[in-house]
Amino acid sequence: MRSRMERSHLTLFWGLMLGLSSCLRPAAAEICGPSIDIGNDISEFRRLENCTVVEGYLQILLIGDKNNNINQEIFRSLSFPKLTMITDFLLLFRVSGLDSLSTLFPNLTVIRGRNLFYNYALVIFEMTSLKDIGLYSLRNITRGAIRIEKNPELCYLDSVDWSVIMDAEFNNYIAGNKQSKECSDVCPGIMESSPQCRKTMFNNNYNYRCWNSNHCQKGKQTALLDNIIAFDMIYCQRDEAGLFGAML
Ligand SMILES: *[C@@H]1O[C@H](CO)[C@@H](O)[C@H](O)[C@H]1NC(C)=O
Ligand SMILES: *[C@@H]1O[C@H](CO)[C@@H](O)[C@H](O)[C@H]1NC(C)=O
Ligand SMILES: *[C@@H]1O[C@H](CO)[C@@H](O)[C@H](O)[C@H]1NC(C)=O
Repeated sequence: MRSRMERSHLTLFWGLMLGLSSCLRPAAAEICGPSIDIGNDISEFRRLENCTVVEGYLQILLIGDKNNNINQEIFRSLSFPKLTMITDFLLLFRVSGLDSLSTLFPNLTVIRGRNLFYNYALVIFEMTSLKDIGLYSLRNITRGAIRIEKNPELCYLDSVDWSVIMDAEFNNYIAGNKQSKECSDVCPGIMESSPQCRKTMFNNNYNYRCWNSNHCQKGKQTALLDNIIAFDMIYCQRDEAGLFGAML
């Protein structure tokens, strides 16, 4: 009885100690930056390979216009599933051959907008091949608006309810993309008459919510977000849980 008490106290003590120390240097999570510019060459994407958090902004711009086909092949398999958070903004400008961000950043959950590009936390500008945004894990743009402009192939813009993700959605600027009447946005399950996505009211439109034909837009998940947003905390919590699990 006594020894059990002692043991659990000890466990708690070491759990907290180790938990705290690993907060300072999270083992599994690499924080990259300050800020990352990826430009000119597709091979520069390699700089993102270990990043869980980009501290600062992430800019991806001016990649290939002649080699559109080559890029397209590479982009179909290029993926950074570790990337969960960008603390400033995400800017994409003239990257050809990229038709969705769904494979590239499948786990990007939070853009904090601590520093903005003008007033924007997400800028998608003159992306010649982009057909859908596809950031299906994106749950929270903490600060700043979005600017999505002059993307001639870009659809699935009316199927995203931005009010679920951000508080400043009235400052969003979305213009000059593919005309919505030329898009045939179909959320998952619609074709089989078994719609899988939620319906919400946004911009006077009661619609199914999805990022593309494969991914519904998920709702708010406060617990998950609380964890991820306090990103200095999340690794502590994870590590602590892991340690407790290992020691108990
Ligand atoms: C990512 O991690 C691997 C393994 O530790 C390392 O070899 C590689 O150089 C790292 N990449 C970058 C861009 O830091
Ligand atoms: C997203 O992250 C989770 C947890 O780290 C991982 O299990 C999952 O495979 C990732 N998703 C993708 C699409 O890679
Ligand atoms: C995003 O996260 C912040 C910080 O937790 C929260 O205050 C804000 O309400 C969230 N925004 C939305 C739209 O969920």
